[in-house]
Amino acid sequence: MSLSDQDNRPVGIFDSGMGGISVLGEAIQQMPNESFVYYGDSANAPYGEKSTAQIIALSERVCEVLLAHDVKAIVIACNTATSAAASHLRKKFTQIPILGMEPALKPAVQDFPKGTIVVMATEVTLREKKFAELMLKTASKAKVIKLPCPSLVRMVERSVVYGPEAEKELKACYDNIDLSSIDGVVLGCTHFLFLRKALKGLLGEGVHIYDGNGGTINNLKAILLQKGQLAQPNHQGSFILKSSKDEAYNQQMLDLLRIYEEVAL
Ligand code: DGL
Repeated sequence: MSLSDQDNRPVGIFDSGMGGISVLGEAIQQMPNESFVYYGDSANAPYGEKSTAQIIALSERVCEVLLAHDVKAIVIACNTATSAAASHLRKKFTQIPILGMEPALKPAVQDFPKGTIVVMATEVTLREKKFAELMLKTASKAKVIKLPCPSLVRMVERSVVYGPEAEKELKACYDNIDLSSIDGVVLGCTHFLFLRKALKGLLGEGVHIYDGNGGTINNLKAILLQKGQLAQPNHQGSFILKSSKDEAYNQQMLDLLRIYEEVAL
């Protein structure tokens, strides 16, 4: 690779709020030479209770903010915005790659072709065509339980990711599900990554938990490599956190990033 094949400009990452901080955490781990600009559209969170048209308009505005930072690629660190807006954003902003996320149903079904798999995601993700197509593609004898948990998104937005309140809210979400029947859980919303530890506490260590963060960042790496746009190997990676709320919220995002490895891995 020649130097002209390298690009130290930042990668933009966004979510409706806190959730995408888990994707940023993965990106920082996997791509230490890259710089990132993270945007949490917290003033408009949660996206998962909005119409498709609203999510498209909000996501478009966020992409414009990120493009003003001269980003070389954008990662939609939000399953909801990916389902509702990714194809629109790719048509609108053709100048850079725009990567999305997908609930990690495929690996879960591979591991448990006849098992019971819970997909925790927003109403929007579960109702959009993209998820129906994913279900068809991964069609198997597995029993897939769709579990929308809007209260959990709101809770993580307040940075509550462990302790009695988190445990109580998680338990309430699983109220109508026989816990002993569950083989795997797909975290189809980036906010829920921060509840992985609490979820293990509820379901036990034996239940497999899947997420799409690793796969998304692998894709990002592969695309930047293919385009000759990875940062130089001696480039010191960095990140900045921005939001549509205030400094206190930005500090909250930083605090969550600091405990990412502890609670989300
Ligand atoms: N973190 C987002 C996702 O991955 C959605 C949360 C929301 O805003 O409802 O779907």
